[in-house]
Amino acid sequence: MKEKKIILTGDRPTGPLHLGHYVGTLANRVKLQETCMQYVMLADVQAMTDYYEHPEQVRKNVLEVALDYVAVGIDPQKTTIFIQSMIPEIAELTIFYLNFVTINRLRRNPTVKTEMQQKGMGENVSAGFLMYPVSQAADITIVKANLVPVGGDQLPMIEQTNEIVRAFNRTYHSDVLVEAEALVAQTERLSGIDGKAKMSKSLGNAIYLSDSADEVAKKVMQMYTDPDHIRVSDPGKVEGNTVFTYLDIFDPDTQEVAQLKQQYQKGGLGDVVLKKRLIEVLNAFLDPIRERRNELAKDPQAVLEVVYEGTRKTQEVAQQTMAEVKKAMCLDYVK
Ligand code: TRP
Repeated sequence: MKEKKIILTGDRPTGPLHLGHYVGTLANRVKLQETCMQYVMLADVQAMTDYYEHPEQVRKNVLEVALDYVAVGIDPQKTTIFIQSMIPEIAELTIFYLNFVTINRLRRNPTVKTEMQQKGMGENVSAGFLMYPVSQAADITIVKANLVPVGGDQLPMIEQTNEIVRAFNRTYHSDVLVEAEALVAQTERLSGIDGKAKMSKSLGNAIYLSDSADEVAKKVMQMYTDPDHIRVSDPGKVEGNTVFTYLDIFDPDTQEVAQLKQQYQKGGLGDVVLKKRLIEVLNAFLDPIRERRNELAKDPQAVLEVVYEGTRKTQEVAQQTMAEVKKAMCLDYVK
């Protein structure tokens, strides 16, 4: 028999989700909930590692991200959505795991390194931020997840998780913890509207799932194309042209897109015509999501109730895993 897939993923609630999240993991989650046991975590504790001065912002965005989840089709009947801070076992497990990780290893983690650079943390990185991959290992293992759909930049996290799992099981002669496999999305990364390699809130180059049709239009009109394509009659470049990158992903009419590419390369096709097409394509994709989101946003309490219900389910599983972990560590004091 094939082993049952248990999935854990999550997002830091520091802002609403954008198209980069969609192609990176949301699309996968909507698909995988049909065949797997899936947990999706609102990673508010992880968000605090760099938003600890703005807790009200994290609190507000827990709801925004929950709305995004349900609006894109993550179905709470099929997927268990929960709040990280309501599972104290994750924090407890993190403390146990820290013994298996060296500070040098954390400093070398490529994901952490990149983020430290982007945020200008340098030598003054907090202990909390530096160890967030350990906390992430706790997120994954507390529900014994064996599959983690991630964007390509999160691969080192899974590697780090499995190192901890193996070290723990070896040290305590146990098989309590389960190794996880990464599942990288087909389109790992979506570039931002400025053509930079990654769409992200902090780079200010994102199109949000909750953006209005007008906002989407405005952002597409600013989109990076080919800086040498000045007159309509000039031949233009398709590679690295953000408008084409997006059309390739979101435009269902692939034949038409292929023709537009040819025409653009020859010359005689203007950026504005292309951008207008992309605006239509993106709004056709986002309209049903926006509609659902607006409907759900009318009753935020109902959405939170769904999340609390998922959290209660996760609490049961977390307590079970913690009991096994403590037994393996000779910390099972009361029988
Ligand atoms: N690090 C992820 C992010 O940046 C969120 C996250 C926390 C996560 N724990 C996880 C993702 C475990 C996958 C698995 O948004």
